[in-house]
Amino acid sequence: MDHLTLQSTLADDVLDGLTRPFKELPAKHLYDARGSELFEAICDQPEYYPTRTERLILETRGEEILEAAGAIELAELGAGSAAKTRVLLDTGRIRRYLPFDVSESALADAAEALGIEYPDVDIVPVAGDFEQHLDRFPPATGPRLLAFLGGTIGNFTPGARRTFLRLLATTLGPDDALLLGTDLVKDVDVLEPAYDDVAGVTAAFNRNVLTVINRELGGDFDPELFDHVAFFDPEHEWIEMRLRCRRAHTVHIAELDLDVAFERGEELRTEISTKFRRERLEADFEAAGLRMDGWFTDPKGWFALTLARRVG
Ligand code: SAH
Ligand code: TRP
Repeated sequence: MDHLTLQSTLADDVLDGLTRPFKELPAKHLYDARGSELFEAICDQPEYYPTRTERLILETRGEEILEAAGAIELAELGAGSAAKTRVLLDTGRIRRYLPFDVSESALADAAEALGIEYPDVDIVPVAGDFEQHLDRFPPATGPRLLAFLGGTIGNFTPGARRTFLRLLATTLGPDDALLLGTDLVKDVDVLEPAYDDVAGVTAAFNRNVLTVINRELGGDFDPELFDHVAFFDPEHEWIEMRLRCRRAHTVHIAELDLDVAFERGEELRTEISTKFRRERLEADFEAAGLRMDGWFTDPKGWFALTLARRVG
């Protein structure tokens, strides 16, 4: 995405989020170049089971999934480094791959590496915000599988999630399918450490949003004054990530001409990560004009890949 557009979105989101009674920052601003690197490091932490669990499903059922989808091209939202996607490209069924991401550095690195590794696949990177710029995808050349992996759909709040799934449904042609990766409800002793690794990588990732605001909007946040907090909310069945302020102080954000007062112990919400049950997903699909067409999980039932198609 071009820098100007991204920056005005960040500015508006920060202005809204930091003037609410309960402060909040939307998650897409976690992924600048440094944030994307930190996310890669999260995926390698022993506590962070989603990446390796989803990869296991792709390795064991990928062939079957692609056959059921009948796709010859793969478009992937929030592709990042496309590490797991290689499992699908390895089947030899995909002729064109279109990774889509807001992080231009991650996208460029992935496209360059994939171009070398898969000379027979046409690699077409698309930069943008998937909530605004899905029209940047070129027209399909055949049945397309639209993949949204990593449990990123769980980072939307429930209403926004349905709005987004509805948007995705409208971009699907009658022969296209959606492949959605969702993390599932499980023991809290497994869930919480995944978002609070002992090495502190997730904490650094969470605080990185403050560094982004400092750089892009002339803020004077001291990231060390905020502690990383992650807990499972059993009522909503999501992990909530927050930054808790260590002492009362005021932050100035020059480009917004904004002073933001923080109390000691005040918490700023940065991210949710919803943990699904099959019924919740089916209800979301129904609300969005989609129907479930395949359900693939790992032996422990920790993560699910779902195939869905447009209704009608
Ligand atoms: N698919 C990878 C990465 C998941 S992390 C995996 O499963 O491991 C989420 C990815 O989505 C990041 O690469 C981030 O840059 C991207 N992303 C987050 N919000 C986005 C948005 N609004 N538009 C486009 N990409 C976004
Ligand atoms: N989509 C990932 C998830 O929900 C994103 C993620 C993992 C994340 N760890 C995080 C987002 C820590 C913010 C902070 O699992």
